[in-house]
Amino acid sequence: MLSRLWRVKDIETLKREASAESSNALKRTLKIKDLVALGIGAVIGSGIFVTAGLAAAGGGDYIAAGPAVMLSFIVVAVACLFCVLCYAEFASIVPAAGSAYTYAYATLGEYLAWLIAWNLILEYGIGNVAVAISWSGYFGSICANLGFPLPEWAMYSYFAAPPEVIAQAPHFLGIPIVCNLPAIGIILFLTAVIIKGMRESATLNAILVVLKILIILLVIVMGMGHIDVQNWVPFAPNGLAGIQAGAALVFFAYVGVDAITAVAEETENPGRDLPLGMIITLVLCTLLYMAAAAVLTGMVPYTELGTAEPMATAFNMLHMPWVAAIISVGAMVSMAAVLLVFQIAQPRIFFVMARDGLLPQSFAAVHSEFRTPHLTILWTGILVALGAGFMDLGVVIDLCNIGTLFAFILVCVGVLVLRYKMPEVRGKFRTPLVPWIPIAGVLTCLYLIAGMPVMTWVRFGLWMVVGSVIYFAYGYRHSTLNNPLPQGEGAPAEGESSSETLESSSSLGAGEVEPA
Ligand code: ALA
Repeated sequence: MLSRLWRVKDIETLKREASAESSNALKRTLKIKDLVALGIGAVIGSGIFVTAGLAAAGGGDYIAAGPAVMLSFIVVAVACLFCVLCYAEFASIVPAAGSAYTYAYATLGEYLAWLIAWNLILEYGIGNVAVAISWSGYFGSICANLGFPLPEWAMYSYFAAPPEVIAQAPHFLGIPIVCNLPAIGIILFLTAVIIKGMRESATLNAILVVLKILIILLVIVMGMGHIDVQNWVPFAPNGLAGIQAGAALVFFAYVGVDAITAVAEETENPGRDLPLGMIITLVLCTLLYMAAAAVLTGMVPYTELGTAEPMATAFNMLHMPWVAAIISVGAMVSMAAVLLVFQIAQPRIFFVMARDGLLPQSFAAVHSEFRTPHLTILWTGILVALGAGFMDLGVVIDLCNIGTLFAFILVCVGVLVLRYKMPEVRGKFRTPLVPWIPIAGVLTCLYLIAGMPVMTWVRFGLWMVVGSVIYFAYGYRHSTLNNPLPQGEGAPAEGESSSETLESSSSLGAGEVEPA
């Protein structure tokens, strides 16, 4: 039994499945500019618009980083760079959909691959719960500024509502009705767009990415003239511990930097473009983040930034309500792009897992008219909407961060395993300075996990236990590796329709299905 847990999926099989000749491969149409647009679409969102302020001000289980939150961003960028270099090697060897899950399946074995996929749910699904709640915060403040304040019971997630909000909420059969309606609404709306088709999603993403860059530049340009260097003193009120706690929190701003590996199978030249796309995304976002964090902490005392919309707060405090209003709209736009890309990425991971037999084949069902995996998209949308309506923002950000960091760690370990156990396997891109870069990736991710509250580790442990139970109850018994295909046959797995070919389209490149 134990040996079945560590069975790996043959790299040649993965390549064959992803090759153009395979009946269930994806079309390769994405270029470097598409990948960077996708990367920025996935990365810049509530991390900079909400968590940067929280990290600077501290609160809850986190001590304040103060203005040194700028350094927290650098710490995270360095950790991400190590991991991205490891992702890149895998993406060039196995340019197949499924991201870290697929890489682990080829090196670390089925069980760890399953656990990575289980953690990618934290990255994309739970990550989107956090972004939707943050989106709702900015939406609520815009409605209030326009003179239409929303009732509090419709703005709070159930498990984050203070007792007075619960007491004053309308009751149904004695149960208080408290749920974050805007957060639910935005997820359901985007789910409908994605089901309808990728062309609509791709156009929307391209527009949103341009807008979000303009908004961050607006913050930097408009805020620069209002920096008071006194606000940067003290620079690091809690020293290294504050910078570490800040880094653990603002890691959320980088979640999604690996998202483009999910479309490896649709990339024209994955060996060259995936590493480049991730590195360009990482560098661009780090520069924008550091400049925005410097301006924000220079404009107002860092202690004022612990609000649900810190950037708007800072400009309001300096009596620039029109800039605050533009930023609020821009923040919503930026977050909507993250929501869109993550809502696309999550069903795609499920699709690949169903292809491997680790999930039921219905996860790969395809709509006859829209040619999208509509059922998986719909269920993902409903579950994320429910989470957004009821869960606490702090809890979901922490879960998303720790799950993503765990996936990053396993990808770094995967590169070590690959180099020492399968030295004959070579991709176009090779992680430099092995074993040092993968080891540095593991250590920096562990450093960030160490900066998280103990309760987050406990919740994460529970999540892993639930994931393991589901694997043994289903995936272990239904894996296609139980009945391996003869070499050379790239035929679809049992129960899988050979007509279920996902096709990328235009700049976003995820999941439309080609007619047979
Ligand atoms: N990096 C994404 C954001 O900041 C999750 O919204």
